[in-house]
Amino acid sequence: MTQVSEEMANKFATEKETPYERWVKSEGLDIIPAHYVPNLRHVALKPWASRGGKAVFINHEASRHSNDAYVCEIPPGGKLAPRKQMFEEMILVLGGRGSTKIWNESGKNITFEWKAGAIFAIPLNCHHQHFNGSGQEPARFIGMTFAPQVMNMYGNLDFVFNCPFEFTDRFNGEPDYFSTKGEQKGFLLQTNYVADAVNLPLISAKERGAGGGHIRFNMARGSLASHISQFPVGTYKKGHRHGPGAHVIVLSGEGYSLMWPEGGEPTRYDWEPGTLIVPPNLWFHQHFNTGPTPARYLALKYASPRNAQGVPMSWISSRVGGYQIDYADESNAVRDMFAAGLARHGLKSAMEPAYEAELPTLPPKPGAKPVVAAAI
Ligand SMILES: [Fe+2]
Repeated sequence: MTQVSEEMANKFATEKETPYERWVKSEGLDIIPAHYVPNLRHVALKPWASRGGKAVFINHEASRHSNDAYVCEIPPGGKLAPRKQMFEEMILVLGGRGSTKIWNESGKNITFEWKAGAIFAIPLNCHHQHFNGSGQEPARFIGMTFAPQVMNMYGNLDFVFNCPFEFTDRFNGEPDYFSTKGEQKGFLLQTNYVADAVNLPLISAKERGAGGGHIRFNMARGSLASHISQFPVGTYKKGHRHGPGAHVIVLSGEGYSLMWPEGGEPTRYDWEPGTLIVPPNLWFHQHFNTGPTPARYLALKYASPRNAQGVPMSWISSRVGGYQIDYADESNAVRDMFAAGLARHGLKSAMEPAYEAELPTLPPKPGAKPVVAAAI
């Protein structure tokens, strides 16, 4: 992170803390300020007096106004206090099993069950309450929200947690709201509930490199975005960048990610199921599968920058002004590190077909002279 002198930082000290930070502090909880949590399943939590259970918040220090996440654990046989909130929330269940009751001001309600691997969203400003379904094991989940934007914008907790407005266009007591049915439109699956993110069938997505599978979700008729990506043994994704607040959670497999700010050196972050990576605003990042099985992650995020055609900039080649680095433009060091990681499992890179498949679609390098056929 860019640093300035203490003298200059002191001039901005009174502007540093946000309403969101003050709220987390008043709840007696910590914010993990980093962009890497080695394992969400084991990260330390503190008692959350107002809601019950235990929790820790995660919000990168240089992206304080972007969306956040929190890890929360419900004790065996326990439940959390009911709440409603003027911000959206997407949840991945990390461990255990339980149920959630959702209801609106009119009293329309629905209760559904979940277990580890489930993904769902809380409809905006609906009352909700989570229950642990086991008397022996804790239930742990991660919720990704845009609480920082809402709290920092309105600065009034009564509005955020106690507004009577009812978004009936998002939830109106539909009895099948949290069924596993869904409508597939291109890459986008419109559903409110995924029972098992680890084994959900995906769609082929060659645009992100190396024959990976992909699926995108729109849940609870909200604006939060999410997707699952999977890449085969011996492969890695193309490096890319985008705005802040993408929470990448490893669902299966073994490998590492590189992250670096423009012009900086990449840092390596090893991962396993349960690892969280939050690339800071416009930092490049690249994910590598060095294990003996396919690797899969879930990304929970807010909107990404797009071009005028609606295509995410992170899917467009950096040769034409996009945010994705073509394989042809990556350094040899990237490939050497990958080969060394695979060798630990006696594996070899399976990337040659991906390198070759890229060539016909590769835009010319900026400044390269166009190839002109010789006149006859
Ligand atoms: Fe990304």
